[in-house]
Amino acid sequence: MEFVRAEAVLGAEVRGVDLRQALSSDAVGALQTGLVEHGVLFFRRQEISAADHARLAGYFGPARPHPAYPTVAGYPEITILESDREHPSKIEKWHTDMTFLAQPPLGSVLRARVLPPTGGDTLFMSLGAAFDALPESMQHKLDGLSAEHSFAHGFRESLAEPGGLERLADALAANPPVVHPVVRRHPGSGRRVLFVNSLFTVRLLDMEDAESTELLDFLYQHLARAEFQVRFVWAAHSLVIWDNRQTQHCPVNDYWPATRRLERITIEGDTPR
Ligand code: SIN
Repeated sequence: MEFVRAEAVLGAEVRGVDLRQALSSDAVGALQTGLVEHGVLFFRRQEISAADHARLAGYFGPARPHPAYPTVAGYPEITILESDREHPSKIEKWHTDMTFLAQPPLGSVLRARVLPPTGGDTLFMSLGAAFDALPESMQHKLDGLSAEHSFAHGFRESLAEPGGLERLADALAANPPVVHPVVRRHPGSGRRVLFVNSLFTVRLLDMEDAESTELLDFLYQHLARAEFQVRFVWAAHSLVIWDNRQTQHCPVNDYWPATRRLERITIEGDTPR
């Protein structure tokens, strides 16, 4: 197995592995280590089945299904992310997946199923590189701060749609707001990363609303700098695994009215510290 680094601060393409086969423990170990080292792993030309997808995700831990999206028949752990002419994608915000959970996912395994003729790329960003690039005085200020994250904040547009509140009532009730440190240490590498995102982070605790909004806006602008990013251009049978503890991602919604369907398995994570 070979990891070919992207020309960016994160990301590597994994070559020399066939994901239709069960992997040896050495290969699984290499993927787990590679994920921590590179933050996001890209695979090409992997003509796999849903069962292969589930087996691959299982090497990283148990699945943690999303409370608000449909799933593949027979595979409740595989979330369908689909948009088309009638249902344009609503997510075009930088985010770390499901930080509305007390234990946000370790990572996700995302597989291309139907791609638009052009566009629909996914951008990934390194939260460690973003933290490292902050002035020391800002790093110091952020260390020890906490932020509230919530499902209701992330899904506010869907909740405001006709029938949205009824459709999402169970998910809303099951996912009250949670608090995470603004700077967390990656449990695998020990690296400090900036753990706020514009989709699910509501506010910083222990400060006035205006100061919280100003500081979060500053951090979101900082995080969105191109130098922390890598861009993945999907092709048939591509697959991506990202480490959700040290990255954010942002799908680019430039393909409407074409259909784009990806399938994702999200893996259980730990409590950010
Ligand atoms: C996601 O946000 O998990 C999906 C990313 C994408 O649709 O490119």
